[in-house]
Amino acid sequence: MKKIIGPFTQILPLTGLPLKGTLKDEQLHIIPNGGVLVEGGLVLAVGDFEKLRKADPSAQIEEISGQQVLLPGFVDCHTHICFAGNRAKDYAMRIAGKTYLEIAKAGGGIWDTVTQTRAADEAALVGSLVQRANRHLAEGVTTIEVKSGYGLSLEEDLKQLRAIKTASAQTKAKLVATCLAAHMVPRDFNGSQEEYLQHVVNDLLPVIKQENLTNRVDIFIEQSAIDSKNALIYLNKAKQMGFDITVHADQFTTGGSAVAVEVGALSADHLEASGEHEIELLADSNIVAVTLPGASMGLGMPYAPARKLLNAGACLAIASDWNPGSAPMGDLLMQAAVMSASEKLSAAEVFAGLTFRAAAALKIERGILAPGMLVDMQAYPCADYREILYYQGKLKPTQVWTADLNDF
Ligand code: NIG
Ligand code: FE
Repeated sequence: MKKIIGPFTQILPLTGLPLKGTLKDEQLHIIPNGGVLVEGGLVLAVGDFEKLRKADPSAQIEEISGQQVLLPGFVDCHTHICFAGNRAKDYAMRIAGKTYLEIAKAGGGIWDTVTQTRAADEAALVGSLVQRANRHLAEGVTTIEVKSGYGLSLEEDLKQLRAIKTASAQTKAKLVATCLAAHMVPRDFNGSQEEYLQHVVNDLLPVIKQENLTNRVDIFIEQSAIDSKNALIYLNKAKQMGFDITVHADQFTTGGSAVAVEVGALSADHLEASGEHEIELLADSNIVAVTLPGASMGLGMPYAPARKLLNAGACLAIASDWNPGSAPMGDLLMQAAVMSASEKLSAAEVFAGLTFRAAAALKIERGILAPGMLVDMQAYPCADYREILYYQGKLKPTQVWTADLNDF
């Protein structure tokens, strides 16, 4: 059954825009009084509402009332929303001036969430993950990457990845799983960093393949986590096994982005510490540079150099990093809007970073409204697309449409 959804005051299909580099709002193709012709979960046409109606008089009409602006669904290409508990104690210590190491020594940090997540059973993890995914979905985020990394043992990392797989059948948001067993060397592992990574390669990655839990591997390259030398060896092995690579890079110190480029990762994420050299490396590669303003807000740290990355010609995506430690808020639009005011990003750059450029980091085709694409879109209660960032995240979608994204 064909259906025309509209009329929308404006439709921003975000089509025809380059994957890399700066974008001006004048480059946005804006369709006034637009409509979308859909059938069976697929978009057939996007264009003038009246023209679509005349061309297909038998199509059913799903009428949109009032002023509404239509965008593709957002893609959050970096989250850690499969976890139990919270880290409010860390936050209190942080705002009292304690350092990362002091917080970890006092029982906080990633290991605290590992302990809390290990104590939760798989069903509880599925339940809280579905709730978070549905909150994101209601806020227009229709595709969500979700990492493991709070298990840090064979059984516990598998528990997380299985929970993500089960949860994806219980939400209309599309979930994309990533194995982050290399988040840090677990405190209860009896051996060196090299030995832990070798154990992941030998014992965990083959099971992940076998159970088809994910084809993506992430790592946290940092002085306090995994060093660059071991990271490169690990990532090359994962790549040889057929995994796509993504990297937590340059969050506090540099080194990770060079490894990401060398190994041919899909994305390098964080980049708060990236300098001119790293910016150039990233811009000259095909990597997606993912900025995580929510982590800067949570930690009270500077943003990644988003403006400079775009000016240098990089592909810039914006993700939430939603996690219980550094980025507990999880409001992607709010974070992108607030960061864009500081970094001076155009609306076109922000929307590209939240949609098709973020989809490139996941190697999926999403984030544009065009014939042949799945129905995956959201409408905001305003007459002008510029109001969306102007309200800095307080304007939420009135409606979100998704085909059964997990079926595709
Ligand atoms: O992306 N940087 C490393 N990992 C997460 C934080 C995880 C945590 O603190 O629980 C991040 O910010
Ligand atoms: Fe992260």
